[in-house]
Amino acid sequence: MDAARIYSVGDARRRAARAVPRALFDYIDGGAEDEVTLHGNTRAFREATFRPRLAAETGEPLVSTSLLGTPLSMPILLAPCGLVRFMHPEGAPAVARAAAAMGTISVLSTVAGSSLEEFAASATGPKWFQLYSPGGRDQTEELVAQAQHAGYTGLVITLDTPALGHRERDVRHGVTQPFRFTPVSAARLASQVALRPRWLAGMARAEIRARTGSTDAHHAPGGIAGVDPAVEAPTARLVAMGASPFSWDDVRAIRTQWTGPLAVKGVLSPDDACRAVEAGCDVVIVSNHGGRQLDGAPPTLRVLPGIVDALGGSAAVVLDSGVRRGSDVVKALAAGADAVMIGRAYLYGLAACGEAGVQRVLEILRTEMVRTLSLLGCPSVSDLDRTWLEPPGSI
Ligand SMILES: Cc1cc2nc3c(=O)[nH]c(=O)nc-3n(C[C@H](O)[C@H](O)[C@H](O)COP(=O)(O)O)c2cc1C
Repeated sequence: MDAARIYSVGDARRRAARAVPRALFDYIDGGAEDEVTLHGNTRAFREATFRPRLAAETGEPLVSTSLLGTPLSMPILLAPCGLVRFMHPEGAPAVARAAAAMGTISVLSTVAGSSLEEFAASATGPKWFQLYSPGGRDQTEELVAQAQHAGYTGLVITLDTPALGHRERDVRHGVTQPFRFTPVSAARLASQVALRPRWLAGMARAEIRARTGSTDAHHAPGGIAGVDPAVEAPTARLVAMGASPFSWDDVRAIRTQWTGPLAVKGVLSPDDACRAVEAGCDVVIVSNHGGRQLDGAPPTLRVLPGIVDALGGSAAVVLDSGVRRGSDVVKALAAGADAVMIGRAYLYGLAACGEAGVQRVLEILRTEMVRTLSLLGCPSVSDLDRTWLEPPGSI
């Protein structure tokens, strides 16, 4: 599919739905339980409104910025996402390459299904690693050391996953986490896969390449019978994570080991934001996991201003969950975020057409940001504050 024919994130979503098996699309697209938080995130962005300034003569507005000293061509990072490997034959490395080409940071998930080294080799730009608990202090120390050794500069600790959210679309497809093949799930998935022969052929070619030429961790021998090792490694990690979720003491311990920027992801209250800073974090990621964990969690845009005020500049603030337009990015920045992360927006692009699709989504969001700033009369993302929202300070 030609990425140039994608004109919005909504387009990318529609194309993704046609490119991958239904269960995989629903894994990307869905949220927990009644999906109240999933929809609340996007509604909060839609309901926030701007106060433009007329005849401001801005020229071409600037969207470049920096985060903790790292220059970014735009204030949009690529969020860590699990099982990226299955969304397109090019897998997680395609995400790393697209982020590097577009001048931004990509964050590899612990459960992406690609090894730290494979992703790092493709990420010529700055790369961060996202950490779920691998099961205990020793294992955490080992994984953090592996990330540092592989050249990751930032570490994101996700704290909003002490248990997995109940994603009912997945359950209906027979795809439960941790993943297990059952006769029912196998039959359901087989019929969906049969409708997507191009995806199947691409994945088969990628699998043959990986098995013949790779020493990735997820291709290590000796696994669960009948389960693709690339599924098994994330699965094993999800089991470990549930058995021993991180505590604030763990965050403090990781801080003593990790020398680069440290972020906590999943913050939804000023109290937890301040705890993260006390534990030594440099970045607070305001996130409800895109509505995939606690259904009933508040939209992130709504809680952002209180968190920014409580932190008073003591940490950088990144927001995710619900960003689908460049104007959403502008709203988040006006409400006090230093940058945003996107999850589904780039996954739709990836599922639709690989690296080119991820790049295309980033280009679209960048263009939309520039246009929004022009229409607002705002010369640069660095000029955004709550006076650009209507009523001023509202969210
Ligand atoms: C398919 C999918 C898988 C995800 N896997 C992870 C993960 O492994 N680790 C993590 O911290 N967050 C994960 N997330 C959450 C994202 O990092 C991010 O918080 C979320 O996607 C933001 O919401 P948005 O999709 O509305 O942009 C995942 C999100 C999606 C959509």
